[in-house]
Amino acid sequence: MDVENEQQAVSADGGAEKPRAGLSRRAVIGWAGAGVAIGAAGVGTVAAATMADDAPAAAPQNLDVPFYGEHQSGISTPVQDRLHFAAFDVITEDRDALIKMLKEWTKAAASITGGREVGGGAVGVVPQSPPDDTGEALGLPASRLTLTIGFGPTLFEKDGKDRFGLKAKRPEALVDLPKFKGDRLEANRSGGDICIQACADDPQVAVHAIRNLARIGMGVVNVRWSQLGFGKTSSTTPDSQTPRNLMGFKDGTHNIAGTDADSLARHVWAAPGDGPDWMTGGSYLVARRIRMTIETWDRASLQDQEDTFGRTKIEGAPYGKQKERDAPDLSAMPADSHVRLAHPDSNNGLMILRRGYSFTDGTDGLGRLDAGLFFLAYQRDTRKAFVPLQTKLAANDKLNEYITHVGSAHFACPPGVRKPGEWWGQTLFG
Ligand code: HEM
Repeated sequence: MDVENEQQAVSADGGAEKPRAGLSRRAVIGWAGAGVAIGAAGVGTVAAATMADDAPAAAPQNLDVPFYGEHQSGISTPVQDRLHFAAFDVITEDRDALIKMLKEWTKAAASITGGREVGGGAVGVVPQSPPDDTGEALGLPASRLTLTIGFGPTLFEKDGKDRFGLKAKRPEALVDLPKFKGDRLEANRSGGDICIQACADDPQVAVHAIRNLARIGMGVVNVRWSQLGFGKTSSTTPDSQTPRNLMGFKDGTHNIAGTDADSLARHVWAAPGDGPDWMTGGSYLVARRIRMTIETWDRASLQDQEDTFGRTKIEGAPYGKQKERDAPDLSAMPADSHVRLAHPDSNNGLMILRRGYSFTDGTDGLGRLDAGLFFLAYQRDTRKAFVPLQTKLAANDKLNEYITHVGSAHFACPPGVRKPGEWWGQTLFG
């Protein structure tokens, strides 16, 4: 099988999509490798691009993360550098139209996560109609793009009314999040019927993905709000260097590793019997836009900054210890420090998978940066994870001197699409 045919063989639902124009032959071979790519759940190592003699060296980002699998990618997948997150409102009452769009979205998602163009592509269609693909990702590799879908509480019911016949299928774990102490939530940055989390090593690839899904969804969904993120503030790969958040601290030191199947099963994936069957293998996502009052933080002493977390700034070591990964002695940390309060030993073993990103969205008109952490956390049951943890942090955390939660959303992310022909939401609507 030659390269082009092999590529088409792994493309979704008939394989009509083409690799993005302007790509090296070698990059194409690398992406074609369903057989060499990351494990179905996105757990484990990154795929290695296959070598070809007639091609220039491939950069590490010339890799794709498999779209199909038991779990959706973008949860336990090693965290990519960039984020574009979008929450959508469904604007139609027509269940069939919604299902049709979800099928089209799935096809497009399988295509672009594999580095291929949407549908008939950006060129080569009839000039009288708009191209299927908006084109700004032409020549760019897949950049480890993952697209993760979630369904918000308002997709199931709104103002007490059933929507799309889904009310009875709403998982009990998909609660309306309570108002936490100190919340200053903005309606236009909160909620949403459907979310798409696009993560990639290239921001243009992530933005292209959201834009094309929004275009396909025209007349069925509207973008309610969206958030760009950079500088991942968490790590699901404990061996790599821990990234720093905008407060200058290493963030993600103690997180659930994407390779830790036991912890993922215990804390992240919904299991049979947890709730409705359609969510088995899925996970619940909480998104919080957390603004940092950077200017106040920057005037705080180093001692005060370190006391806020209970870890040192440069090394990230827990108080009383030398190295970042030394086991913490919680009693050596201030009682109101973030890490002491959030650590599993202070919470009956509770853990969440954090996957947040930094954001800086210009200024607020008062001379301050509109910057902070776009917090994303996955869990098996939000009622037993984020809700009790945030209740405690909101009441006691010293970090609250420097942060304000201004956006909030909650989504049920279904299990993965297992093979071509299946679609996002099939277990819910099917
Ligand atoms: C702007 C807001 C926040 C900042 C800057 C921040 C920063 C940090 C930092 C620097 C660490 C220590 C390094 C690490 O182990 O990853 C940490 C740990 C942690 N944070 Fe946050 N965090 C924020 C919000 C939250 C929220 C809202 C939650 C949950 C409701 C949370 C839960 C945790 C947990 C569970 C840990 C791990 C504690 C441990 O096991 O040692 N964080 N955070």
